[in-house]
Amino acid sequence: MTLPDPVHPAWLPPEAFRAIGSRRTLVLGDGLLAGTVHDEVADACARHGGRVRRGAGDGPHDLVLALTTAEPLPGVAGEVRPGSAIGAEGYVLARRDGVTVVLADEPAGLLYGLFHVVRLGERAFAGERQAEHHRPAMRRRMLDHWDNVDVHPVMGQVERGYAGGSIFWRDGAPRGDLARVRAYGRLLAACGVNAISVNNVNVHATEAHLLTDRLGDVAALADVLRPYGIGVHLSVSFASPVVLGGPATADPLDEDVRKWWAGVTERVYDAIPDFGGYVVKADSEGQPGPFAYGRDHADGANLLAEALEPYGGVVHWRAFVYNHRQDWRDRSTDRARAAYDHFAPLDGRFRDNVILQVKHGPVDFQVREPVSPVIAAMPATRLAVELQVTQEYTGQQRHVCYLPPMWREVLGFRPWGDGGADVAELVGGGDLVGVSNVGDDPYWTGHPLAQANLYAFGRLAWTPGTDPAAILDEWIDLTFTPATPSGTANGDAEPAGTAETERLRRTLHAIMGGSWRTYERYTAPLGVGFMVRPGHHYGPDVDGYEYTPWGTYHFADRDGVGVDRTRATGTGFTGQYPPPWSQVYESLDRCPDELLLFFHHVPYGHVLHSGSTVIQHIYDTHFAGAEEAVEARRRWQEAAGLFDPSLHARVERLLDEQVRCAEEWRDQVNAYFFRKSGVPDLRGRRIP
Ligand code: GCU
Repeated sequence: MTLPDPVHPAWLPPEAFRAIGSRRTLVLGDGLLAGTVHDEVADACARHGGRVRRGAGDGPHDLVLALTTAEPLPGVAGEVRPGSAIGAEGYVLARRDGVTVVLADEPAGLLYGLFHVVRLGERAFAGERQAEHHRPAMRRRMLDHWDNVDVHPVMGQVERGYAGGSIFWRDGAPRGDLARVRAYGRLLAACGVNAISVNNVNVHATEAHLLTDRLGDVAALADVLRPYGIGVHLSVSFASPVVLGGPATADPLDEDVRKWWAGVTERVYDAIPDFGGYVVKADSEGQPGPFAYGRDHADGANLLAEALEPYGGVVHWRAFVYNHRQDWRDRSTDRARAAYDHFAPLDGRFRDNVILQVKHGPVDFQVREPVSPVIAAMPATRLAVELQVTQEYTGQQRHVCYLPPMWREVLGFRPWGDGGADVAELVGGGDLVGVSNVGDDPYWTGHPLAQANLYAFGRLAWTPGTDPAAILDEWIDLTFTPATPSGTANGDAEPAGTAETERLRRTLHAIMGGSWRTYERYTAPLGVGFMVRPGHHYGPDVDGYEYTPWGTYHFADRDGVGVDRTRATGTGFTGQYPPPWSQVYESLDRCPDELLLFFHHVPYGHVLHSGSTVIQHIYDTHFAGAEEAVEARRRWQEAAGLFDPSLHARVERLLDEQVRCAEEWRDQVNAYFFRKSGVPDLRGRRIP
């Protein structure tokens, strides 16, 4: 497919299709997505000299992509057909007698199988391969766009967007570049994403109309995303009946309100038969919700779920609910407690097609937070875990911050300790949702290296146990060196690349692999969070939120720092976890260092497990983090000849900014704590 110029091909450069495009392929199966598979292969063949047949075709073939229902399945494909169901999006991959076979029960599985073959490149056509079953761990792998249709006076076109404007909307209207939207859908399918919501969870006046009179704009997006298996969802206002000319109330128990939602939803499905459902932020940060009518979140969510139920649609009801008008003098209110306090008592009350969408941490996408206790508290409720791919609090796509190591920790967290289920298993079969980091920037994500976060989000949603370093390799190979693959996250082994390729890989690993921890080192220490400039959230401001109503405090004084969230003397938040974590976090001795200030208020001289004091840890990590940013820039400068010059120049400029900002963080945080505590740096470094 030809990309709208001058858009970067990201992880699907034409070269990545060489292995397929230079061979003979048979595609067997009907349906829209099987058509996409055929067209993808045909495109690759036109470029690289191979050929593709659809339906019955004369052999020989190097690659067969077939639905299990196809009759007859040619030789090898028939032999590897499994006895049991493969599953809706799954596929079987095998290679025997010189033929590579992808078998799927449904066309979506063929599409994902095709992209698996793309990832393997030449390795897909070498040797023999025992039949492997691949199926996604998460049923829905979804990106939420916080895109506004109108330019919002404060938040702009994309709320918390760092990659230019929206790819869907511009200045109050559809952007009209459907080729770009289609290219986006293709990239998403290639990393396993199968759903998106197309507008901001804060639904402003114009955006509310997407549900009714502007539904055609949503249908147009659904039409171009459908061939890549991407379902479209819509953020809706809970006050829709009132703001869109329906009943004068949005009371979820009002009969007219129920009828209004039923009618509107019916029209949505008339226009978009495979519509995914509604995303709702209610009674949160000023958004309307059921509280206005004395109802609770279950009443609110069930109202919309009832309307969607006949069509198989779902409601993603967000658990990000807290008091954003808190009195900072009141030490008993704790924002971290809020989601659990609101939702845990409602477990069991939600309809089957309500999915409670929980931010991965209890506060707000900080660089370090514990896992939200809500995830372990709702056994009778379907859950989605929400990650922030857009780097609101992690450098805003001006800093390199490869997030999968953090996501891996979240997904691998075991709320009941060793032997209990981890988060991925708890949500297993459910949803992983990411707030998208994409905009109309030529590199899609502003920072070219932030593409890796988007890619990895999809891959982790498919296989949550994958090693982030292996995903990074996979992304590097597809994006930068498609002709010389080193291996994939599926564990396939690797022919060595050229010396240049190896250098390129080493450079990107050095810069990206540990970048999340680097970012953590030079920003807010030991899990305390925030310390960002209010409003836009970029750069340091240690007391920026300290005396505000937002509920995000660090309580630093001359003696110590941190939030006492213990049951014994603090807000009691630790009690929202089951054992062992309720005890581990409660205990000053056992609490992990990196979360110490999230759970405890301690003196600056408190000794960490690492052997360092809190104050010395703050100094050391801030010096180290800023140095690591300088080192990343040095590595990048050294690698100039290995990358496309304009991409290299863009990243170099961004690394200059990262170094500047990291040094600002270092100096502000260190100076702040030196002035508060009066404790000098043991190593006598300059603290301004
Ligand atoms: C953060 C972010 C907001 C966003 C909110 C949400 O607070 O700063 O812009 O609206 O999260 O997740 O709803």
